[in-house]
Amino acid sequence: MARRTLIAGNWKMNLTVAEAQPLVAALKARTAAMAGVDVAVCPPFTSLAAVVAATAGTPIQVGAQNVHWEQAGAFTGEVSAAMLREVGVTCVIIGHSERRQYFGETDATVNARLRAALGSGLMPIVCIGETLRQRDAGETEAVVRGQVAEGLAGLTPEQLGRSVIAYEPVWAIGTGRTATPEQAQEVHRFLRGLLRDAFGGVAEEVRILYGGSMKPGNAASLLAQADIDGGLIGGASLKAEDFLGIIAGA
Ligand code: PGA
Repeated sequence: MARRTLIAGNWKMNLTVAEAQPLVAALKARTAAMAGVDVAVCPPFTSLAAVVAATAGTPIQVGAQNVHWEQAGAFTGEVSAAMLREVGVTCVIIGHSERRQYFGETDATVNARLRAALGSGLMPIVCIGETLRQRDAGETEAVVRGQVAEGLAGLTPEQLGRSVIAYEPVWAIGTGRTATPEQAQEVHRFLRGLLRDAFGGVAEEVRILYGGSMKPGNAASLLAQADIDGGLIGGASLKAEDFLGIIAGA
């Protein structure tokens, strides 16, 4: 079946509520250009409610960048899935490489967060990908296999069907060094095969996004690949023209 392209912007720790206003206004003015494509933006927690309000009635979905695995309790600094749902968030990034690198995220915590998100009806965008050292050592497939096996452990096929995977080679994130369409497609195809082996036919419905220095100039060739079903966009999601240019490439 045809997978609907998803272009998601990961704002990371950028844009205050006030700073986000012109970007959201520019995106809202161009929703006609989003026909046929799913579009999401993922602001910091503090801007979620404002961006949900500003995008109400548009096809733009709003996602968070993390979610805790418990429903409530003594977890200082964390935010629950129910809290995200309450403010109108519909999706959430889980296991971004920056969380893994700087905040101790592991495949086990990714799995716990993923279950919480699915349990609350949020659409998870689960990030995986190898470092440059791992790629150079020929370990890309082993790394990706391990992240999938542990990160998605225990999911039902139905739950996988409600999930999105983002392949983000760490060496391509924020570096301007994009994977070539062929390099990305090779891993995406491998990944879909892993999902098929573990979960069956639902793997054909799962969207696998590419992330890592996707820009208007390289988006179309990446998105033309058979197993690349969208993009997770960092830097280029902060400028309306760049983000819209990527959407146009889809
Ligand atoms: P980038 O980030 O587009 O700035 O490389 C992508 C990401 O980290 O999701």
